[in-house]
Amino acid sequence: MDLDRPSALLRGKRLVLGVTGSIAAYKAVSLLRALTGRGASVSVVMTNSATKFLAPLTFEVLSGQPVTTGLFEACEEMRHLTVPEGAHAIIVAPATANFLAKAAVGLADDVLSTILLTAQCPLIVVPAMDGGMWEHPTVAEHVRILRARGVVVLDPEEGPLASGQVAQGRLAAEPRILEAVQALLTPQADWLGQRVLVSAGPTQEAIDPVRFISNRSSGKMGYAIAEAARDRGGDVVLVTGPTALRPPAGVEVVPVTSAQEMADALGRHFSWATVVVMAAAVADFRPREQAARKLKKQGRTSFTLDLEAAPDILAMLSAQRTTQILVGFAAETEDLISHATAKLVGKGLDAIVANDVTKEGAGFGSDNNAAVMLSRGGRRKELGLMSKRRLADEILTEVRELRTAGRPSAATVE
Ligand code: C5P
Repeated sequence: MDLDRPSALLRGKRLVLGVTGSIAAYKAVSLLRALTGRGASVSVVMTNSATKFLAPLTFEVLSGQPVTTGLFEACEEMRHLTVPEGAHAIIVAPATANFLAKAAVGLADDVLSTILLTAQCPLIVVPAMDGGMWEHPTVAEHVRILRARGVVVLDPEEGPLASGQVAQGRLAAEPRILEAVQALLTPQADWLGQRVLVSAGPTQEAIDPVRFISNRSSGKMGYAIAEAARDRGGDVVLVTGPTALRPPAGVEVVPVTSAQEMADALGRHFSWATVVVMAAAVADFRPREQAARKLKKQGRTSFTLDLEAAPDILAMLSAQRTTQILVGFAAETEDLISHATAKLVGKGLDAIVANDVTKEGAGFGSDNNAAVMLSRGGRRKELGLMSKRRLADEILTEVRELRTAGRPSAATVE
């Protein structure tokens, strides 16, 4: 992994950076820049002694967020409870011997140590201290306790210290800290450098200003794919029909309503993409005409709506593609494999994820899904009932194989 390349590997991650009172506190400024530069949103918490080395304003300006300092002000706002809310990790750098002791025994006499007792997320501790302190049996014991609890403690490095001594006590170098953060938060970065265009959700095809034709798609599968691709290092654009889901952080979200709008938005991003995953449930038919005013009953007992075919977006993109990998979905209620195979070939796709939407506990609206993934060249992978997020990861792993195998010309697609 090239850690010097300012990739956006931490996009969408919320971090708490704890700074304690060591002379190495100035290095936390550069660490903060590196974390935000990788896309993380960082909330800084300083101990009182850290504020003797650096002004909170420095962190405030660079993080773009208020800095939490003294416990009393924090209590007023209950910040010790709200700061870590939704945080993906807490990094304490530099961590003093005093901090290690408090963390090991669970003392909570300032805001940072209190946060540790309220937070559920992983903790990375980067000690920095003088001379023989790191070697002291008490410090070593605290480090052992923390590690046994699953805390990542990075050994300090040997070198000249502020006191003039040469010993093990220097804060771990920034690339090591970043590597630890990335290893913890993005263990798999196999989609780094990929540009992933995902569609999700239903479309709505207007009949008149108040009515539309739509379907039961919740958007959960497409959103899960967008999040998984982001977490694995990809740049993601998510074109989404109307859903009740929260827009994923660190993903460019393009909201659309109709099939035509979805086709236009995907068309605009198509040449940018290296992989397109079409998880949206696009309308196949739409009203030929859209009434400008609300249609009236006017004593009618029946009503016939004249429908025309909506654009088949995948088929359209497939005809325009250069090197993009195209993945479709097939939601079926019968003859799953034969219908999905026909779509794989007919739409000129590299893979299709076929799911039986009549299956109990899977499909529309559910958090789980089961599918069979068919890929060009006759590959077939059964993906039993699992969470949509796990299924998204399985799909991406399968697509990664197709990526590395290269895309054959349309003539060789089976
Ligand atoms: O033909 P069918 O709608 O069953 O194909 C499903 C796949 O094609 C899905 O990936 C869906 O997003 C896509 N599709 C499309 N444009 C349509 C209808 C479906 O791209 N008008």
